[in-house]
Amino acid sequence: MVRFSASILAADLSKLEKEIKRVEPYIDEIHLDVMDGHFVPNLTFAYPIFEAVKSSTQLPIDVHLMVTNPEFHVEKFLQLGVSRITVHVEACTHLHRTIWQIKEVGSEAFVSLNPATPVSLLEQIIGDVDGVLVMSVNPGFSGQKFIAKSLEKIRKLHEWKERYGLDFYIAVDGGINELTAHPVVDAGANILVMGYGIFKNDNLKALSDNFRK
Ligand code: DX5
Ligand code: ZN
Repeated sequence: MVRFSASILAADLSKLEKEIKRVEPYIDEIHLDVMDGHFVPNLTFAYPIFEAVKSSTQLPIDVHLMVTNPEFHVEKFLQLGVSRITVHVEACTHLHRTIWQIKEVGSEAFVSLNPATPVSLLEQIIGDVDGVLVMSVNPGFSGQKFIAKSLEKIRKLHEWKERYGLDFYIAVDGGINELTAHPVVDAGANILVMGYGIFKNDNLKALSDNFRK
């Protein structure tokens, strides 16, 4: 079964709670993009928005940390009751430590790869993570075009799962919609993170029925 994760970056933030309630029947989790204007060229949500989202829904919340030194922020999100933290391999000097800092308190730990970062960089950590988030756009903004080369990375991760008998999620984030969802799922992805694909979609029910059955 494919999970849908709604990236609130594309929601109408002036009515956040209403927006979450509107899409809630069609999704499985909320995706919160935390950007620091340094690791990525944009600034977004921090702790108060996380708390606002948490008070609006019972769904699990995935915090996608697009920040340098993500380990500085992990503790606070864990205290606030985050379900999953996703950190970038490019931003973590001590990735193993950060992954286990997250897992030790019972939260899920995902690792993310920018489009130019190869899957091979995860070889030593893949047995420790709960999932991999393949970025299919350069992180920073909603509404960008899907980078098709990401499919190769999803296939490779899927191959690893089979070859090494591992069980981890393969999530994909960026430019996912009715058209790109099919090849991504065929390649092996089982979590689709969508901003525009969910919040700016007039036929969300059809998309959800199609993939979440
Ligand atoms: C981009 C973010 C994504 C973004 C996806 O840096 O990580 O989560 O919101 O938005 P869409 O689905 O519109 O590309
Ligand atoms: Zn994201």
